[in-house]
Amino acid sequence: MIPDFTLPAPLRPVTLADVSDRYLGWLNDPVVNRYLETRWTPQSLDIIRGFVSAQIAATDSLLLAIEDQGVHVGNLKIGPINRHHRCADVSYFIGERSCWGKGLATAAIRAACDIAFARFDLHRLQAGLYAGNVGSLRALEKAGFTREGVWRQQLLGPDGWEDHIFLGMLRQEWTP
Ligand SMILES: CC(C)(COP(=O)(O)OP(=O)(O)OC[C@H]1O[C@@H](n2cnc3c(N)ncnc32)[C@H](O)[C@@H]1OP(=O)(O)O)[C@@H](O)C(=O)NCCC(=O)NCCS
Repeated sequence: MIPDFTLPAPLRPVTLADVSDRYLGWLNDPVVNRYLETRWTPQSLDIIRGFVSAQIAATDSLLLAIEDQGVHVGNLKIGPINRHHRCADVSYFIGERSCWGKGLATAAIRAACDIAFARFDLHRLQAGLYAGNVGSLRALEKAGFTREGVWRQQLLGPDGWEDHIFLGMLRQEWTP
């Protein structure tokens, strides 16, 4: 989907020009991809281009670039969007490790809430993560998400079975 509205920082539309060796390097970095499902499939520029093209064409998903001082450092996706239940998943990564711990993921998740509730008129946003991904958990909680549930040992993490933790935010809980 290509957004027809101004995006809140640190988000901007993603384009095929964003597909670069740097982006490929993020997905192939074992520290970055530790908790990303992309790690199960060998990545290439062609595979990333195919993914970004499909996301731009999709009607139920919005893929966005996360920027730090005008530089593309990661991505955030709102989708799939369920129009009947007015809810969507949110997922993200900051590929540039030097940008970790600066509040970027928290800001990007907050911006995603703004888009989901103020632009898409959704009722809820949800995210799932490996229990060991404490940075992601903390970013979601700082953005105002509530821990809702757990599927025990559903995910094969880097060091063995991990719980799959689910968080969500309802529209009425969102404070812009
Ligand atoms: C997880 C990730 C998104 C966090 O992004 P970030 O921009 O560094 O997060 P923020 O700076 O907004 O940090 C939010 C909070 O988490 C804490 N945090 C971040 N990474 C952490 C880590 N590895 N361990 C412990 N705490 C961490 C921060 O200190 C901050 O808390 P504080 O304000 O109380 O100090 C980023 O490390 C990343 O993209 N990792 C690889 C891909 C990934 O795991 N994506 C998420 C899949 S669910």
